[in-house]
Amino acid sequence: MLNTPVVVEVTNLTRTFGSRTVIDNLSFTIHRGETLVIMGGSGCGKSTLLRHIIGVMKPTAGSVKIFGEEITTMNDRQIEEIRRRFGMLFQSGALLASLTVGENVALPLLQHTDLTIDEVDETVTQKLQMVGLSGFNELKPSEISGGMRKRVGLARALALDPELLFSDEPTSGLDPIMTAVVDKLTLELTKDEGMTAVVVTHDMTSAFRIATRMIMLGRGKILAQGTPEEIRTHPDPEVQQFINGEADGPMPLNLSQDDHEHHPHVKARPLVSARRRFHHKMP
Ligand SMILES: Nc1ncnc2c1ncn2[C@@H]1O[C@H](COP(=O)(O)OP(=O)(O)O)[C@@H](O)[C@H]1O
Ligand SMILES: [Mg+2]
Repeated sequence: MLNTPVVVEVTNLTRTFGSRTVIDNLSFTIHRGETLVIMGGSGCGKSTLLRHIIGVMKPTAGSVKIFGEEITTMNDRQIEEIRRRFGMLFQSGALLASLTVGENVALPLLQHTDLTIDEVDETVTQKLQMVGLSGFNELKPSEISGGMRKRVGLARALALDPELLFSDEPTSGLDPIMTAVVDKLTLELTKDEGMTAVVVTHDMTSAFRIATRMIMLGRGKILAQGTPEEIRTHPDPEVQQFINGEADGPMPLNLSQDDHEHHPHVKARPLVSARRRFHHKMP
């Protein structure tokens, strides 16, 4: 796989927000036809990294080349031009609320091609079918579930048959069956049509199902990278903790109060009851 041409080259990429370094001197390459899965804990900089690769954010230092061209110094028009060659599924889905599902998927086709309305319609129908949403064209984003919105976002990202697809947590919010549908689609696109996929996920089932290579991020750096087999057997306990979803291990747990309240095994203890317990002990 690594003998194929380089489509993305990240070199010494650094991004700081204030005094915090979110991406710390990262370097790696992505090769044509591979499915690179990028994993790592919440807030470790996965989405930020994708935003830099697609040119939405400018780095503090370093370089990103996409299809051989430096994207970090491109102006908006040049970025718009190169965007025709890749699709992006944002973590939120990022649909336009005022447009229907079908119109959202049609958008890149109307912007970037000379297809007739009938041809646009046909492509929209085909892409929605690919993500298991036939017949939903006329609904508004607010009328469908979060998981469906995500799949509409995927259909839109695929509208122009991109040679390179970035997906930010494409399966979060999807049930296991829909996750399998999306994973199968990724596998088909990368196999038959030679698409390159870069998928950010913390769904380990999905990650190991689709990845040809994996990168695990932590503290702004690459903690581990390799084939799924190399990651599965990686000696670093932090990597093992992550891929096995263990609560105990070297990776710090940063559950907020909100997370605790929604966690099935952790009962939040309101301050009042703590005070009551305290008072009970008082003579
Ligand atoms: N525009 C921004 N300004 C300030 N901090 C940001 C900005 N974007 C992201 N961050 C910070 O960078 C860190 C990584 O965020 P993100 O890339 O969204 O993480 P992940 O996608 O891995 O969950 C977070 O701590 C986040 O608060
Ligand atoms: Mg993210």
